[in-house]
Amino acid sequence: MGTETEQQPARAVQKLATAYWASRCLHIVAELGIADRLDDEPQTAEMLARAVDVKPSPLHRILRALAGHGIFVHDGERFAHNAASRMLRSDAPGSMRSFARMMGLKVHWDAYRELGTAVSTGEPAVAKVTAGGLFRYLQAHPDEAQVFDEAMAGKSALTLGLVVENYDFRGFKTIGDIGRGQGHLLYAVLEQAANARGVLFDLPEVVARARGRSHPRVDYVGGDFFQDPIPACDCYMMMTVLHDWSDAESTAILENVKARAPRGAKLLLLEGILDPMARDDFKLDLDVEMLVMTTGHERTEAQWRAVLAGAGFRLSRVIGAGPMGSILEAELG
Ligand SMILES: C[S@@+](CC[C@H](N)C(=O)[O-])C[C@H]1O[C@@H](n2cnc3c(N)ncnc32)[C@H](O)[C@@H]1O
Repeated sequence: MGTETEQQPARAVQKLATAYWASRCLHIVAELGIADRLDDEPQTAEMLARAVDVKPSPLHRILRALAGHGIFVHDGERFAHNAASRMLRSDAPGSMRSFARMMGLKVHWDAYRELGTAVSTGEPAVAKVTAGGLFRYLQAHPDEAQVFDEAMAGKSALTLGLVVENYDFRGFKTIGDIGRGQGHLLYAVLEQAANARGVLFDLPEVVARARGRSHPRVDYVGGDFFQDPIPACDCYMMMTVLHDWSDAESTAILENVKARAPRGAKLLLLEGILDPMARDDFKLDLDVEMLVMTTGHERTEAQWRAVLAGAGFRLSRVIGAGPMGSILEAELG
């Protein structure tokens, strides 16, 4: 027993030690597409289970647990949507279904099992699971790559509006989005910069998927940003790209961007700025995700400044774009 205060520390440990119980439920429900099967009319787990061909009793228990975490509402018998569970629908604006599915991919779980190895060896955990790392794995697994692309679009949805609201793109002629997955940011920026052209640069398979919803003012360029020429632009955007890479790799990518950049070109890194002393900050957890899945890490403002300087760029402005991201504007120094 013990007083409430004495119990609190144990409760904190218990809560985190078991956090994956509920995470795993969320992954499975997202994978099954349960939220898509539920409209305005509440349904029993039995009805939902029939629709996706699974067993009703385990589904009931999983949904009940999720309702306890604020995802779906449970009236004791039937389940109904709430605002959070609606984000798991495939057709929700800014849908987070693929994000939840991505976190549940086998490659992801396998890599987390190797976190201890990462601590012992300093190597990214994912390297133990798949040679060549995450992006090579996704190149060889198109279905999972599609989930990853959609997950990136989902996680960016909240930030896109803030980027366009907080930065004036109207003076640029050619805006490049480097490592930009499906082009969601570029299309939003081109709406504001109505006279600009866009360049979407990413790995060839990713660009091929992005062409599926092509934009008349965008050139689609497939290539490897470590070695292939990146077309000249007067503005380059890179959103949550360099956090995937070590400082040395980030410098190499930036050197390649710089190689064809015209005088006066702007580079915009859309990334989080880490506060090492923050409490309850998603970016501290995201840094662990980088440790597991990539060679990269989240960076403080000083670390961003240093990595930019390593490739000859000078950080000129930092503009807030919501809790998840900032716009780090840089110029050739
Ligand atoms: C974390 S995702 C970020 C996607 C998007 N910028 C966003 O924030 O939603 C990193 C992107 O970098 C791309 N990428 C990884 N390695 C690459 C390479 N060698 N050359 C070009 N693009 C690469 C991936 O395909 C992916 O689209």
